[in-house]
Amino acid sequence: MPKIAVLPGDGIGREIIPEALKVLQAALEDCPVKFEFDRYLIGGAAIDEVGKALPAETLDACKKADAVLLGAIGGPKWDTLPAKERPELGALLPIRKELGLYANIRPVKMIPSLISASTLREEVVKNVDMVVIRELTGGIYFGEKGRNENPKAAYDVLLYHEDEIRRIIELGFETARGRRKKLCSVDKANVLESSRFWREIAEEVAKEYPDVELMHMYVDNAAMQLVRYPEQFDVIVTENMFGDILTDLASMLGGSIGMLASASLSGKKGLYEPAHGSAPDIAGQNKANPLATILSAAMMLRYTFDLNEEADRIEQAVAKVLDQGCRTADLAKPGDKVLGTKEMGDAVVAAL
Ligand code: NAD
Ligand code: IPM
Ligand code: MN
Repeated sequence: MPKIAVLPGDGIGREIIPEALKVLQAALEDCPVKFEFDRYLIGGAAIDEVGKALPAETLDACKKADAVLLGAIGGPKWDTLPAKERPELGALLPIRKELGLYANIRPVKMIPSLISASTLREEVVKNVDMVVIRELTGGIYFGEKGRNENPKAAYDVLLYHEDEIRRIIELGFETARGRRKKLCSVDKANVLESSRFWREIAEEVAKEYPDVELMHMYVDNAAMQLVRYPEQFDVIVTENMFGDILTDLASMLGGSIGMLASASLSGKKGLYEPAHGSAPDIAGQNKANPLATILSAAMMLRYTFDLNEEADRIEQAVAKVLDQGCRTADLAKPGDKVLGTKEMGDAVVAAL
């Protein structure tokens, strides 16, 4: 029986995960494969219960599972702990590293009925359809960090090994090959040595993909181009921190951060989570948009379990409820009827 480790985490993570599970159960009702769902503690919730952001039991279960479904972690309550004990550095980064999840896939595609939800003009966003591939287990997030005393200073090292760059660039080319055959590698090669190295390797790998057009773009320009003319992008591949920042920005092209799903992969194994965080400002109020998590669950069915039909059904149900005018607060315009987290989950189940 395939195993899915479920990690609700903190804040709105605890509200959106039950909605995704509801949708998964309904979508899998007639599926001959039966899944085992087991819940584990992570993040602040784990610190409060067992004193550690990533308990050994959780890590072990995630290693044994076929896939992991994660809500979000972190929040003000744990922000003042020593860095390594915090949910982010004590759980999220280690779980990514331990599971070898080097490729973070974040698709941004405009769903037609959300064009008016965007804060950008219709003609700018209406044809948006891109995939951002973010390197997830290297770069400045994982380099040496520390403090010097006299004079006081702090540092974070941005280091990439050749094989780390090569495998993510190859995935970029493979993904582009299955789409519109345009790969944009984003870097800061006018300043950073690691980016010049990244670019050299991208050029080398390009020789194996003559059918895919490769272009390079500086990250500052990429941020501007994403807002100016986003439909120029097909696949973007970039290092860890640039990808973090650019995908929050790109999420607004699809209407809301509450719509941006993600898959963190190492081959077939994956951790699936929305791109957003625990949203402490709206946590516990039934206000969060559960669709990014529901769409992440669809990605799980597609990438880890090859259940393409079931994944399609979930994605179509999401498009349908949005067509019907269902809106959580983050998507609503003045005058729209606003649904809560649970009501949005129910609407998706009804639309399946
Ligand atoms: P955030 O993504 O949690 O929230 C940013 C803004 O977007 C907030 O105004 C929030 O209300 C809104 N928002 C986010 N998700 C939403 C949703 N589904 N529906 C409606 N509105 C939504 O980012 P932040 O405030 O910078 O971080 C809060 C905490 O989350 C921090 O502790 C941070 O480290 C953590 N975080 C965790 C993850 C993760 O677990 N993968 C990702 C990002 C941030
Ligand atoms: C994300 C988050 C995390 C990251 C934080 C919470 C460590 O912002 O998943 O995008 O920066 O990777
Ligand atoms: Mn982020």
